[in-house]
Amino acid sequence: LYGEGRANAKGMDVTDVAKLEPLRDAMMATLDENWWAGPIVGGRPRDVLTGRVVHGPADNGKPIGRVLDATAEDATTALDRAHRARHAWDRTPATQRADILRRIADLYEENMPRLMAFAVREAGKSIPDAIAEVREAVDFLRYYAGKAEEDFSGPTVLPGPTGESNSISLHGRGVFLCISPWNFPLAIFTGQVAAALAAGNCVLAKPAEQTPIIAYEAVRLMHRAGLPDDVLSLLPGDGPTIGNALLPDPRIAGVAFTGSTDTARIINKALANREGPIAPLIAETGGQNAMIVDSSALPEQVTRDVLISAFQSAGQRCSALRVLFVQQDIADKLTKMIAGAMKELRIGDPSLLATDVGPVIDDEAKAMLSKHAERMDRDAKLIYRTPMPESCETGTFFAPCAYEIPSLDVLEREVFGPVLHVVRYKAAELDKVIDAINGTGYGLTAAVHSRVEATVNHIVDRLEVGNAYVNRNQIGAIVGVQPFGGEGLSGTGPKAGGPRYLHRFATERVVSVDT
Ligand code: NAD
Ligand code: ALA
Repeated sequence: LYGEGRANAKGMDVTDVAKLEPLRDAMMATLDENWWAGPIVGGRPRDVLTGRVVHGPADNGKPIGRVLDATAEDATTALDRAHRARHAWDRTPATQRADILRRIADLYEENMPRLMAFAVREAGKSIPDAIAEVREAVDFLRYYAGKAEEDFSGPTVLPGPTGESNSISLHGRGVFLCISPWNFPLAIFTGQVAAALAAGNCVLAKPAEQTPIIAYEAVRLMHRAGLPDDVLSLLPGDGPTIGNALLPDPRIAGVAFTGSTDTARIINKALANREGPIAPLIAETGGQNAMIVDSSALPEQVTRDVLISAFQSAGQRCSALRVLFVQQDIADKLTKMIAGAMKELRIGDPSLLATDVGPVIDDEAKAMLSKHAERMDRDAKLIYRTPMPESCETGTFFAPCAYEIPSLDVLEREVFGPVLHVVRYKAAELDKVIDAINGTGYGLTAAVHSRVEATVNHIVDRLEVGNAYVNRNQIGAIVGVQPFGGEGLSGTGPKAGGPRYLHRFATERVVSVDT
């Protein structure tokens, strides 16, 4: 199956109460433990359970565990060990590397309730999002395992007129630094690490400050699955501390980064300014994602897809809808329907199955969103704000809201949360709309709702985005089926979960033998 690039991680039927009870029990059992995360260097976590106290975003009053952040010395020790281990790992046959990745995938599935509990408590994921999180991680592991076997199993002979034997093969580059965000704390964390390992690199993994516990658990499972100790180290902690310790070091052979465009620029500059080999940066960054809806679209379908695209995961997806362009003729009707649907959204405790919108990640995110909403309340027209229940006072919740704005120019940058902006356009202005979207410089996702094939083709042909969706929502790309990633300010490519992703982590060698 994976040779054909299909995803097959086990799902979970959340409508079946009989299956939900054991899931809840398993999640609750996990909550009774003392959660801890810290550096894992040389396969061994520290044995002293100290560190800063961590709170989950849904309940700031209740600590969920402790985290010991990695120091610059931890980072250097991990790099020394990884650098020594790099040749042995690269020379391990690709099938053996793939087998380890598949064993990790199996362990993730066996530990699904536990991993889901971390995603819900530490990152504020809703239950359906937590299921999707584990499944996507499992899909990445199995997909890259299959790709490693296909592309890294030995030299490919190249035909030619030279009379020699020519062959090409792929090899790991050395030590990769993988830096991930909090919004997919298991899926993106695992996807980067699995790709680098599959291609024959040793890895130093740096999870986001907000979500070290789930990453710690993931790395423990990876070592349990047979990954050699020095091939993967975990360095939780502050971005600049780890970045400043490692990025200038010429032994870092490449960086896989997912996060904000601003941080990608800092990393890019650090790599450019250092001595030593020129290292690739694979950067997957932010977006200013739009949806264009013309008057032929089906309003009920659009309403559903807008709600999913803008508010699922509390809008904290790089793929999420930020700006909805609606043709003037249906704008009143559609905004009314969207407001009606927003009224039904349930905000609250992400561990309850009925919850649609959980918390945003932390105080800083909430403050940024509140500042933006204050500006919008002053300068734009509020379409609707979902009322927030009192129970939300315990955490960093932010009420989903929608505003009508005159044009895209009003927004300077990505607003990372449940805020929808709506712009009306006249049919004759369609090309101006497309130019405005392209003019942001971002190019991650876009969606089109139209029943007119020529309009759909016209828009899709001209939009400069990595992932375009037609007559559906614009989130939740599936590994191997919808390879994901943007262009311009949104990323360097190649696409995660796509057939060419591993190649960027590798170097190519050609051998020519005169026969
Ligand atoms: P962020 O850029 O603040 O942090 C991302 C990671 O970079 C974290 O691990 C952080 O500790 C680290 N970091 C920060 N400064 C660093 C430095 N100087 N050196 C090395 N590492 C450093 O992003 P975030 O807030 O965690 O994530 C949200 C952003 O990620 C949004 O912009 C979102 O659009 C983007 N994102 C993009 C994709 C994609 O596939 N394109 C997917 C998910 C998230
Ligand atoms: N890959 C994630 C999505 O498509 C970000 O929503």
